[in-house]
Amino acid sequence: MSQETTPRQRAFSGIQPSGLPHIGNYLGAIRNYVALQDSYDAIYCIVDYHALTSTHDPELIRRNTFEMAVGLLALGLDPERCTLFVQSDRPEHTELAWLLSTVTPVSWVERTPSFKEKKRSQPDDVNHALLTYPVLQTADIVIYKATAVPVGKDQAAHLELAREITRAFNARYGDVFPEPAAVFTDSPIILGTDGTNKMSKSLGNTIEVFGEPDEIRRQVMSMVTDTRRILRTDPGRPEICNVCQMHRFFGDDFETIWEGERTARTGCVDTKKLLAERIIDSFAAARERRDELTAQPERVRQVLGDGAARLAPIARGTLAEVRARMGLD
Ligand code: TYM
Repeated sequence: MSQETTPRQRAFSGIQPSGLPHIGNYLGAIRNYVALQDSYDAIYCIVDYHALTSTHDPELIRRNTFEMAVGLLALGLDPERCTLFVQSDRPEHTELAWLLSTVTPVSWVERTPSFKEKKRSQPDDVNHALLTYPVLQTADIVIYKATAVPVGKDQAAHLELAREITRAFNARYGDVFPEPAAVFTDSPIILGTDGTNKMSKSLGNTIEVFGEPDEIRRQVMSMVTDTRRILRTDPGRPEICNVCQMHRFFGDDFETIWEGERTARTGCVDTKKLLAERIIDSFAAARERRDELTAQPERVRQVLGDGAARLAPIARGTLAEVRARMGLD
């Protein structure tokens, strides 16, 4: 007999295979993926269809998808406690995206901040999939009827749109989908080394989780701190200093670091050196696991294949329900 009386709620999230995860991905989202494994029926997806909106090199897509799977497993996703899979291994997502696009006004997707940003950042490649990107993202979530979506704050607009699309579908065809809600960590926006923009691979302002120690040192030493602090003896403003803020997550003496910066007892260089060593240490075990997994590509592929297979009945079931509601049965 089953031990559980009420079924667990479902959590879903996706991450683009843009190489290996950075500290922004980790603090903003991945540590919640790990935490939610115990309390939710958790499903995590490497969204290669989404990555095709900006990356057109097949070998890069292939390699990055594998690298991201290894990275996520090394950081604590446990195939015994969650389902990890690659988006294109469940092609039902794209069929559902098409069906959902029929209830989505063009104006909703045109006004999405990420679309406007992509029009600026890749003006020669404003492909149609960029416009419909959030509809596919909605399909990813609702095909599993997930209610909790661990993401960083930069995904808030996409989540709001997912809720609107869900409501539009339910209003026209009857209640099929629960409304998904974003779940944020206590650091929903991590700034990059430039100290002003969100940390992002495309902006080149990342600190890599799996970087070689010297690379992490170089990235941390390049961080912009309090720009008004010119001399070593000038008191700093820890509340706006990205280096100081990042110490919150690496160590348990944040107040001392704050005080040191505010009173000019410590200089920026010392605080950065300490941060770099702490980041290196805190991911040392994950780096080892990553090396082990990289040496066993078949094991990683097996995890991804099993994950996609396990989800087949759910994805097909939802699609059959939707098709029937829409008169396609
Ligand atoms: P992506 O691949 O850009 O980012 C993966 C996750 O990392 C979070 N994140 C951050 N959090 C805080 N500070 C940062 N600087 C930072 N950078 C990235 C993101 O918020 C995200 O949670 N569109 C999504 C992928 C996606 C998805 C989905 C997410 C596709 N389908 C369904 C949720 C549900 C994306 O591009 O994330």
